[in-house]
Amino acid sequence: VNATQHRYEVARRTVPADCRTPRLVRGALGDLLPSTAAVTEARRDIAASELFAVEEAALGRAVESRRREFVTSRACARKALRKLGLSEVAVGSGPHGEPLWPDGVIGSITHCRGYRAAAVARTQAVASLGIDAAVDRPLPDGVLRSVSSARERTHLAVTPDGAHMDTVLFSAKEAVYKAWFPLARRWLGFDDVELSIDVAAGTFRAELLVKGPIVAGERLTEVSGRWTVDAGIVLTAAVIDG
Ligand SMILES: CC(C)(COP(=O)(O)OP(=O)(O)OC[C@H]1O[C@@H](n2cnc3c(N)ncnc32)[C@H](O)[C@@H]1OP(=O)(O)O)[C@@H](O)C(=O)NCCC(=O)NCCS
Repeated sequence: VNATQHRYEVARRTVPADCRTPRLVRGALGDLLPSTAAVTEARRDIAASELFAVEEAALGRAVESRRREFVTSRACARKALRKLGLSEVAVGSGPHGEPLWPDGVIGSITHCRGYRAAAVARTQAVASLGIDAAVDRPLPDGVLRSVSSARERTHLAVTPDGAHMDTVLFSAKEAVYKAWFPLARRWLGFDDVELSIDVAAGTFRAELLVKGPIVAGERLTEVSGRWTVDAGIVLTAAVIDG
């Protein structure tokens, strides 16, 4: 565990795990992704807990709330995969927690209380994607400093319609990490990118400050994405084109 990762882990513990949301998101995530991506969202947990053996193994021993979020988000993943024409596919987890998709497919999963989602796409269409959801409220004291640079912080403010841009920044960086990891297969710290957010356009751009992987014959130097706030939830999606 390097210093950045350690700082993050310490800060992370101060973020409320409880992502309770007053109202529910309605399909806003799909608008942030290309039409070639299949997206499924759930606002409440499914009752039946059907998991494949590899998924049970990935979940391991878990408290009930973790089991519920895992089961429902795996159900979202399967439904999204069905939209791509793939049925009854298990989605295990890799050694770094990353979801394991069938050959030729990439995707991402996010969950917090009251909201779960999965997005997938064919690798011919998209090289990688990452999605993240967070409650639209200020980050707890100390978290923003550990996940952003002074320069990034100068651009932050609460927008007129109430979006908390510190949370948008945090969420966007997590979406970038989820898109980055399957291609790079290594850690990316919060200070390894310079994130700029376009509030009016609902977009963001993460300039990589470390060497990126080769994607479609070219070195990856930045990751772009879109964000929105819908019914009290910040949604971010990062996409790496093939
Ligand atoms: C992995 C991480 C991004 C997950 O985000 P989170 O807000 O804690 O949780 P979310 O509910 O949104 O997402 C959890 C899902 O992320 C996915 N995930 C976990 N590790 C992953 C990885 N290495 N790569 C891609 N996806 C990963 C999993 O599908 C997980 O759900 P599951 O365990 O039920 O399968 C976060 O915990 C983390 O480690 N962040 C530090 C790295 C980072 O964000 N750097 C910023 C670089 S700019």
